[in-house]
Amino acid sequence: MNRRDFICLGGAAVALSASASASQRTSSAMPNFDKEYFINWDRAYLNIAWPGIKEKPRFRVIGDTHFNYFDERDKEYAGNYARMSGVSGRNVHLPSQAPHKYFEEAVDTAKKDGVDAILLVGDILSFPTLANVEYARKKLDECGVPWIYIAGNHDWHFEGLPGSSTQLRETWIEKRLMPLYKDGDDPMMFSRVVKGVRIVAIDNSTYLLSRKQVDFWMSEAAKGEPVLLMMHIPLYVKTGPKGCCASPHWGAALDWAWEIERRPRWIEKATPETFEFREAVLSTPNLVGVFTGHAHQAFSMRENGQNLFSVRDCRKPRAYLDVAIS
Ligand SMILES: [Fe+2]
Repeated sequence: MNRRDFICLGGAAVALSASASASQRTSSAMPNFDKEYFINWDRAYLNIAWPGIKEKPRFRVIGDTHFNYFDERDKEYAGNYARMSGVSGRNVHLPSQAPHKYFEEAVDTAKKDGVDAILLVGDILSFPTLANVEYARKKLDECGVPWIYIAGNHDWHFEGLPGSSTQLRETWIEKRLMPLYKDGDDPMMFSRVVKGVRIVAIDNSTYLLSRKQVDFWMSEAAKGEPVLLMMHIPLYVKTGPKGCCASPHWGAALDWAWEIERRPRWIEKATPETFEFREAVLSTPNLVGVFTGHAHQAFSMRENGQNLFSVRDCRKPRAYLDVAIS
């Protein structure tokens, strides 16, 4: 994603910043939503009122922590994670091997805060080293709260390896990321019901959706519960950034990072299934919202009465988003 697109979003974005002033919070506390629920917005906290819901689930959405742990077991891939880990001198994320203080705070306080499930919306790792996966799994298991993970484009990416994005994703999910999924789940699409809300996790980390994923969304949404979609890359809306998933503007011409990231360039245009997926999601009557990361900034977007949220990169204090449905 071209982050500059998001920076240019301007008035269309509503900041979730924890440092927002009281007046900012007041002005955004009661958006003029036309659905049958409303959202109260205070710092990084959403309260979604959903008539008829019996239990009151609370979710903590965490994205883009970009762990960069590695050790000698992945020595042969050192050249493929050097840039993202900061070893090459261009530290694009946290200092190499630094303890991930803010992620640990986010997960360690989840139980005390009454969180029913932690939703991890991708780029939890900067690359799929064994050390990264083990750290994530250990901290999540220790926190005492159920968690649901879906991959982002960096989770499975060792820079500079040959193959298409689809092939590389399949290979490295299989080789390394399986400990982050539950037994029996298809890493491309699965769902879980938590206190009456159906959480649907879909992998869109190549920006493209498959026929099977479109059909899966439609069948899950048709089951009738309030349905929450979690993915890594924000879904395009007509007033939003051009580089989102299912954008008609998305494609090779917009891909400024492929050489830096040493990966295949985006294809010319998104596939028909990808556009179909967007239409299906945005016309889902029982959609609670779409929750994503990827842009490393918090914002909300709307189309067709639906609400889409992206969380900040969790490399700062309280960069997660708590969502209560009641
Ligand atoms: Fe990221």
